[in-house]
Amino acid sequence: MKILVTGGNGYIGSHTVIQLINAGYEIVIVDNLCNSKIEALSRVENIVNTKIKFHKVDLLNKEKLNQIFEDEKVDAVIHFAGLKAVGESVEIPLHYYNNNVVGTLNLLEVMKNNKVSKLVFSSSATVYGDPHTVPILENFPLSATNPYGRSKLMIEEILRDLYKSDNNWDIAILRYFNPVGAHESGKIGEDPNGIPNNLMPFITQVAVGKRESLAVFGNDYPTVDGTGVRDYIHVVDLAAGHLKALEKLVKNPGCVEYNLGTGNGYSVLQVIDAFKKVSGKEIAYSIVDRRAGDIAACYADPKFAKEELGWEAKYGIDKMCEDSWRWQSQNPDGYE
Ligand code: NAD
Ligand code: WQD
Repeated sequence: MKILVTGGNGYIGSHTVIQLINAGYEIVIVDNLCNSKIEALSRVENIVNTKIKFHKVDLLNKEKLNQIFEDEKVDAVIHFAGLKAVGESVEIPLHYYNNNVVGTLNLLEVMKNNKVSKLVFSSSATVYGDPHTVPILENFPLSATNPYGRSKLMIEEILRDLYKSDNNWDIAILRYFNPVGAHESGKIGEDPNGIPNNLMPFITQVAVGKRESLAVFGNDYPTVDGTGVRDYIHVVDLAAGHLKALEKLVKNPGCVEYNLGTGNGYSVLQVIDAFKKVSGKEIAYSIVDRRAGDIAACYADPKFAKEELGWEAKYGIDKMCEDSWRWQSQNPDGYE
C-alpha cells in the first residue's frame, strides 16, 4: 500500500514514517519545510536504511500537489501538515487559516480528483476547549479558544460534511493529546524554532543549559498540586496509532474520531520530577502567572481507540522523559 504523508518531515510525521516503512508501506512525503529541516529526512533514512521519496511542495500549490498525485498513484493519505503554535496563531490568524484550512481544502480536492478517499487527519485535544469534566470522551462538546484550535475544528467539520456528501470517503480524525518523547535512537526528535512553547522541550532545553529556568504557568489550578495537568503521550505510541488507523480505513469505517492519549494526567511539577529522576538534572523553575487560554486539566478517555483500533499507549512518563532527554542531550541544537 502506498501512503502520501503530508508534513512527513515534522516531529510526529518523521516518527510515523519510520514505522510505516518498517511495516512495509511505500511512502511519499510532501512537506514545504516551513517548520522542519531536511536533515530530519536524512536521519530517518539512516534509521530505516532506505531512501525515501520526498517532494518539497506547499499544500497551497494545488497544481504541483495534483501532479504528485497523478504521478505517484497513492492509496491513502496521512495529513500532518499544518502550523501548530497557539500564540502565533493569535498574532497571525489569516496565515493560520490559509495554511491549515485552505491547505487541507486543496488536499481534499486533489484527493477527490485522483479518486483517493482514505485519509488520516491530525486533529488535537484542543477541539474540546475547556472540558466540563475529565477524562474526555470523543462525544464531548467541541469548541475552540484560538485560531489554531479553530482551524482544527473547521477542518474536522469540513471532513464530516465531506463524508455526509459522499460515503465513499473513509476518514480517521485523530485527536492527539500532548505528544512528547523521541525515537529511542536519539537521532530524531522535536526541534522547535526559537523559544519552545511547550513544556517538555522547554524542560529539556533548561536541562541542556540552553535556557536558565522554566516558568511554571500558575500553581493555583484545582489540581493535585495547583499546576496544569495534561495527558502526555510518547510520540512513538502516537505514531503507532496512525498505523492502526490505516488498518481500520481499509475496513471502510466512514468518518470516525479517536482520542489518542494515555488516559493518565500529570501535573507540571510531576513532569519536572519525573524528568529529574531519569536525567539526573536539576530543573530550575519559578512559578509565574497563568498563561492566557490555559485550562486546569485535560486527559483522554482512550478506550474507544482501544476497542475500535486495537491501539493503546505502551510508554509511561519516565520513558517519555528518558527519550526526550536522549534526543536533546545528543543534539543540543536540534538538527542544526
Ligand atoms: P511539525 O511542525 O513538526 O510538523 C508539521 C510539518 O508540516 C512540518 O514539517 C512543516 O514544514 C509541514 N507543513 C506545514 N504547513 C505546510 C504546508 N502548507 N505545505 C506543506 N508542508 C507543510 O508539527 P507536529 O508536531 O509534527 O504536528 C503534526 C500535526 O499534528 C499538525 O497538524 C499539528 O497541528 C498536529 N498536532 C500536533 C500536536 C503537538 O503538540 N505536536 C498536538 C496535536 C496536534
Ligand atoms: C502543558 C502544561 C502549561 C510551558 C498545546 C496546545 C495544544 C496541543 C499541544 C497542538 C500546561 C504548562 C508549559 C511552559 C508551563 N498542540 N507550561 N511552562 O498547552 O496543553 O497544549 O500543545 O495541537 O493545542 O495548546 O501544552 O506543553 O504548552 O503545556 O508551565 O513554559 O505545561 O501551562 O499546564 P498545552 P504545553
